[in-house]
Amino acid sequence: MIEDEMASGQIHPKGASVVSADDGGDEKFENVLRPKNFDNYIGQTEVKENMRIFISAAKQRGESLDHALFYGPPGLGKTTMAGILAEEMGANLRMTSGPALEKPGDLAAILTNLQPNDFLFIDEIHRLRQPVEEILYTAMEDFAIDLVVGKGPSARTMRIDLPKFTLLGATTMASLLSGPLRDRFGHVEKLRYYEPDEIEQIITRSARILDISIEKESAQLLARSSRRTPRIANRLLRRVRDFAEVVHQGKITTPVVKDSLKQLAVDAIGLDRSDQEFLRTLCLKFGGGPTGLGTLAAAIGEDERTIEAMIEPFLIREGMLQRTARGRSATAAAWFHLGLEPPTGSHLFD
Ligand SMILES: Nc1ncnc2c1ncn2[C@@H]1O[C@H](COP(=O)(O)OP(=O)(O)O)[C@@H](O)[C@H]1O
Ligand SMILES: [Mg+2]
Repeated sequence: MIEDEMASGQIHPKGASVVSADDGGDEKFENVLRPKNFDNYIGQTEVKENMRIFISAAKQRGESLDHALFYGPPGLGKTTMAGILAEEMGANLRMTSGPALEKPGDLAAILTNLQPNDFLFIDEIHRLRQPVEEILYTAMEDFAIDLVVGKGPSARTMRIDLPKFTLLGATTMASLLSGPLRDRFGHVEKLRYYEPDEIEQIITRSARILDISIEKESAQLLARSSRRTPRIANRLLRRVRDFAEVVHQGKITTPVVKDSLKQLAVDAIGLDRSDQEFLRTLCLKFGGGPTGLGTLAAAIGEDERTIEAMIEPFLIREGMLQRTARGRSATAAAWFHLGLEPPTGSHLFD
């Protein structure tokens, strides 16, 4: 399964592309731009309202917040949400990630060092190894862990009590989470892709924080190329600022945005070079399909799994591509986006 392979790092996201949603090297800026409270966290209205209520309720009862799991594609605000929740509860936030916890002892050490009402954030929680994950079951449910002391016949388990804490989990692949782990979260919230006007607000807010001057129309254009993802929006903003400073007079205007996106090989809806090549090949060489994945892969010199994992999901989401039993088909929207006429007699006219 592709998701498994991506999760275990066998497939590498297009790290080089400015419109990939993974956080390669953006950490420093992301921390500056991260909203610290609900009011500055744009969009995700439903999740925000839910969490606000759960927080008020927990506060009123003087209890810790129930464990919460956030899932959704990279760059949509899971880590940011964790920070806000801790802030709103006035709690300490400890952060770690699934791959960082190699042995049960690694997690046990963190858990036994928690103070009452602390928040523990585990990023990429679907990548916890089974023996580590098992420690979490009793920790989440009974606020205790069972440690095995000694070896062989004299081995015995020793129960260690933990303070009441809140576990926050984040995952891009909720389907890979085991049932027992998922069931132990009191709140499970899905983060969705943002609306263009929400991305525009995020760009405007980030520009203000970074002291960048940007016109409204430019912010709208940038928003359209950001794949509905705040992380990509913030990254594009910084790249365009570089162009504005070096090539133009500093201010981000519409021609500057258009010019910069062109230089970055990102088109008006956020397709990068490989996405565009994939789509053009499908339309121009194969009449829009249906074409087998293997054939397309060979034609553009990309490997099949990379296409399936990194290129197709966005195109499908944007309604430009269909995966059918007979192969990949470009939709009318794809032809239109490329500025091409679908051939007469194509399946689009069926
Ligand atoms: N709702 C939001 N409002 C404003 N900025 C956001 C929002 N969600 C995410 N961001 C910004 O996008 C970047 C990536 O968010 P992050 O929480 O790290 O995503 P994830 O953990 O889901 O990959 C951060 O710099 C953050 O400032
Ligand atoms: Mg994150």
